[in-house]
Amino acid sequence: MTSAGPTNYPDAPTNADYKKVSPIQAKLGQLLFFDPILSGNKNIACATCHHPKFGTSDGVSLTIGEGGKGLGPDRRYVFGDNAPEQRIGRHAPNLFNLGASEFRTLFHDGRLEIEGTRVSGFRTPLEDDMVNNFDGVLSAQAMFPVLSGDEMAGHYSENEIAKTVRIGILTGPNGAWKKLTNRIAKIPEYRDLFRQAYNITAPNRPIVFTDIANAISDFVATEFRSDSSPWDHFLRGKITLPDAAMRGAELFYGKAKCASCHSGKFQTDHNFHAISMPQFGPGRNARFEGHQRDIGRQRVTGKEEDAYKFKTPSLRNVALSAPYGHTGAYPTLTGIVRHHLDPSRSFTAYDFNLASLPIFGEKNPDDFQIMKNERDRAEILAANTLEKQTLTEIEINDLVKFLHSLTDKTFINGRLGIPITVPSGLPVD
Ligand code: HEC
Ligand code: HEC
Repeated sequence: MTSAGPTNYPDAPTNADYKKVSPIQAKLGQLLFFDPILSGNKNIACATCHHPKFGTSDGVSLTIGEGGKGLGPDRRYVFGDNAPEQRIGRHAPNLFNLGASEFRTLFHDGRLEIEGTRVSGFRTPLEDDMVNNFDGVLSAQAMFPVLSGDEMAGHYSENEIAKTVRIGILTGPNGAWKKLTNRIAKIPEYRDLFRQAYNITAPNRPIVFTDIANAISDFVATEFRSDSSPWDHFLRGKITLPDAAMRGAELFYGKAKCASCHSGKFQTDHNFHAISMPQFGPGRNARFEGHQRDIGRQRVTGKEEDAYKFKTPSLRNVALSAPYGHTGAYPTLTGIVRHHLDPSRSFTAYDFNLASLPIFGEKNPDDFQIMKNERDRAEILAANTLEKQTLTEIEINDLVKFLHSLTDKTFINGRLGIPITVPSGLPVD
């Protein structure tokens, strides 16, 4: 038995760190998370981009969303009427521990945030419709992928959901959320499950989209809770770690200063930092803007000092959710760790072949415009706030060993797991 070491190590998470979930809602959420019924053209589910097989992400830098076919690196562009318009602009983040109360800010730029019961950080006229009935930020989040043309809704007149989104009707009896809810409510098995999960007895209490969102959120919170890694067992005084991982922990929480941003029980300060990550793909912009920039947090706050800042990711199960960073620029842990040691050099020397970008149909976009543009490059480099440091090869290896000690494989076999079938009868990824 070892003690938990230096006092600057965090405590291991306990039940008190997590919100209560309803097992029966989580069970319903499991089906919804894997069911393509929530997408406009019924061809993509949450799980397509957040799959247990790829550490609740999708194994590529920037995936092909709605209109693609296949899973992870095998996902392909499909020609035809519903062909995708552009890649998804950011890497799909993993979903570990999002049921812990300290996660109040979501997305790489934190544009969805909950304070008390109010949804903020989201520029939408819907605020007041949105604040009601959410269990938390995680359930509010589930309202959004279904509205995104590239992610789930599909485009223009491809289906009734896309059409409704396009003309901007989201709430009310003819809104997109209601139309999706109607689809679900028409399926007898779902109707029964919602009745049980929400104790819906009044005949005139309809199923509403927040019921769907709350169920998905309880599933994500339960299924992807991750607090039984070797590191957690070490912090609980139950095991010792191999020497290399232990040295890595000492570096992480000491000399290498990783914990100045990757702090707390989940290795994140929930804050935003600019570290000059390579940028490629369509970026994040309004379609008419016609550039590929992604200025990150600045787009949410409007403040220049927030340019190119992105959220510090939690590092739980990081060894299983490659590639890394908001564009998925680095395929290995050693690669992303090295980037941190000298962001400017790593950015400047970035090898475009490291980006995994599935072939994108006949459009064959130039994904690397930003990386080839002097002004954009200079801006990304100037924004960096991460201090350069020199570590030995052994130290880098030790840090990577420590990151591996954050792996908790519970989610791979699954608490609820991947359903074999879903009530819509549509195929499950
Ligand atoms: C086409 C791929 C795709 C699909 C489908 C998809 N997502 Fe995501 N998801 C993403 C990407 C990309 C992001 C990051 C977007 C950003 O930061 O701007 C994200 C972000 C998230 C986040 C925020 C995580 C964090 O740590 O900030 C959650 C939670 C999430 N998705 C859950 C879901 C759920 C639930 C569904 C189904 C209703 C879903 N996603 C469908 C790609 C997808
Ligand atoms: C100044 C704050 C800061 C410091 C210090 C820092 N990081 Fe990071 N780290 C970040 C941010 C921000 C990102 C995400 C960047 C992005 O998405 O563009 C990140 C990403 C990562 C990732 C990729 C995670 C993923 O899921 O994509 C790993 C691994 C990582 N950091 C490890 C480390 C290690 C090891 C150290 C110490 C050598 C360290 N970080 C120091 C801010 C920091």
